[in-house]
Amino acid sequence: MIKRKFKNLLITGGAGFIGSNFVRYMYRKYPACRIFNYDLLTYAGNLDNLAGITKKEKARPKSQRRYFFVKGDIGDENFLDRLFARNKFDVVVNFAAESHVDRSIISSQDFIKVNVMGVHILIDLAKKYKISRFVQISTDEIYGDVGKGVSHEYSQLRPSNPYAASKAAADFLVQSYIRTHKLPAIILRGSNNYGLFQYPEKLIPLTITNLLENKLVPLHGSGRHVRRWLHVMDFCSAIDLAMHKASDFSIYNVAGEARSNREIVMRICEILGKDFRTHIKRVSDRPGADLRYAPTASKIEKQLKWKAQRNIDSALKDIVRWYKIKQKWWKKIKKKKEFLDHYKKQSRALYY
Ligand SMILES: NC(=O)c1ccc[n+]([C@@H]2O[C@H](COP(=O)([O-])OP(=O)(O)OC[C@H]3O[C@@H](n4cnc5c(N)ncnc54)[C@H](O)[C@@H]3O)[C@@H](O)[C@H]2O)c1
Repeated sequence: MIKRKFKNLLITGGAGFIGSNFVRYMYRKYPACRIFNYDLLTYAGNLDNLAGITKKEKARPKSQRRYFFVKGDIGDENFLDRLFARNKFDVVVNFAAESHVDRSIISSQDFIKVNVMGVHILIDLAKKYKISRFVQISTDEIYGDVGKGVSHEYSQLRPSNPYAASKAAADFLVQSYIRTHKLPAIILRGSNNYGLFQYPEKLIPLTITNLLENKLVPLHGSGRHVRRWLHVMDFCSAIDLAMHKASDFSIYNVAGEARSNREIVMRICEILGKDFRTHIKRVSDRPGADLRYAPTASKIEKQLKWKAQRNIDSALKDIVRWYKIKQKWWKKIKKKKEFLDHYKKQSRALYY
């Protein structure tokens, strides 16, 4: 297995949840690497997530800086073209996306624009500038509902909601560039991530922050939906490993541990000493909701020797502690109009 070296890294969507964790991970681990974070700063993008790095960089002389934030849209081809021309990136890791299933049910236009057309622009530029590695961050949601058994990388894609369909389209587009243009790309299909700096509309941070605010936790349907929960730092280590060691054109599932939404909420209630039955509010299920995702990570475990290091039941204790300490971070988000407007709909299951 050859280990590649990269010097100039373009991370798109690096101000979001997973992207900002990945920027921090790479910044710490590879001091010789220059990192460009290109992000539009939509409602989900937040430079506070990277305040530590920004502060460190400001203290350095300009010539020694190695982290650069550029505000921009992956749909802005001309602007990106100039950025690629100036900076000789050797690797692109694409996290930029509209990422919330509920929002895609209410309106899916932006999901197609960013997740499909934006990816198309990025891979065209990666081809034009002969980028030596393109990493597309995909998701297990593209396999759709899996009644029995597991999803392998070769399993059929049967996306159930517009978010998943847009991510499946991007996955297919990248696969087509691999086959037709020999684009040196790899695709990583992550399962449900959890960790620090996750936008509080997603299940885990919403549960923790609502309980801390003495509010009820909206639980969709029966709450028996099963997901494979993956700690974001385990996902970051998988991306790092695959980016450096995977063969061109590989596709890998990266998956965590199976738990139902109900089990997750119960565990958080237990950590915070709250009674589950009196702290949840049942809301109707999402239209088209998937009951079970079951990607297997056996391929990346076997070929690249990746293994998740964290167990969700104990990791949740640290996550809860962090959200308790970082109240300023999430309270600022939860006060914003873009959070409140959507939360009104999400907490009452108003999709139309
Ligand atoms: N969160 C998960 O559980 C999970 C699991 C598997 C895969 N993924 C994938 O990982 C990626 C990151 O997910 P996340 O949860 O961190 O999402 P997120 O919503 O927290 O972050 C998305 C980021 O993309 C930026 N962005 C949106 N549109 C953009 C555009 N047009 N141009 C540039 N930047 C733009 C946003 O500002 C934000 O910073 C997504 O591609 C998602 O599909 C997420």
